[in-house]
Amino acid sequence: MPADTDSAPMNQINFAISAVIRGRRTIGSFRPDVPSKDVVLEALDLARWAPNHKKTEPWHAILLGPETAKAVVALNAKIITAAKGAAEAESKTKKWAQVPGWIVITCDQATDPLRREEDYAACCCAIQNLQLALWSAGIGTKWSTGDVTRHPDFYSLLGIDSSQQSIVGLVWYGYPAVVPEQTRGPMEAFLRELP
Ligand SMILES: Cc1cc2nc3c(=O)[nH]c(=O)nc-3n(C[C@H](O)[C@H](O)[C@H](O)COP(=O)(O)O)c2cc1C
Repeated sequence: MPADTDSAPMNQINFAISAVIRGRRTIGSFRPDVPSKDVVLEALDLARWAPNHKKTEPWHAILLGPETAKAVVALNAKIITAAKGAAEAESKTKKWAQVPGWIVITCDQATDPLRREEDYAACCCAIQNLQLALWSAGIGTKWSTGDVTRHPDFYSLLGIDSSQQSIVGLVWYGYPAVVPEQTRGPMEAFLRELP
């Protein structure tokens, strides 16, 4: 039984959850202030309430402090310099250095291919829980899967054994400086009903 049946009418999508789901946007620029660790920890706890087949709880979270974040920014600059040149690296570094909060979500690497796929799906659900929970507290996120997240040096820096876990996303968080507009295609393109 849903926990809010006493306060919310049945058969009606809860307005607050609807507003959070629709309103959440991927945020590219943040205000400099860092959200409190307490709220971030609460959102990380909520992330773990995502569905997960066979109850594998395949997810892990790493909350990066400023020293580690700085090392990630430097590593990213090194990777981009090699791939695209110094000018591109400098512009990324400027942007990345301003990100207030950093979380990395990893997933256990099951040997069975179906288990691996379902575990990855569960971790994606966990990231969305995290993003929605933070958004409900006025905190924006960007789920990034940029090149750095696949680089062996990133795994080393964070102390992740790539034979055991894979990185599902780097999640930036902070108070949005700008909330972009977004659209979705028509429902007809998404939904097909059968008798
Ligand atoms: C698996 C996954 C990987 C993503 N990787 C990136 C990324 O590397 N860089 C980025 O700017 N956004 C990334 N995003 C965010 C999407 O770009 C974003 O969700 C999309 O533009 C829709 O915007 P919205 O989240 O505001 O609805 C990623 C999203 C998902 C689900």
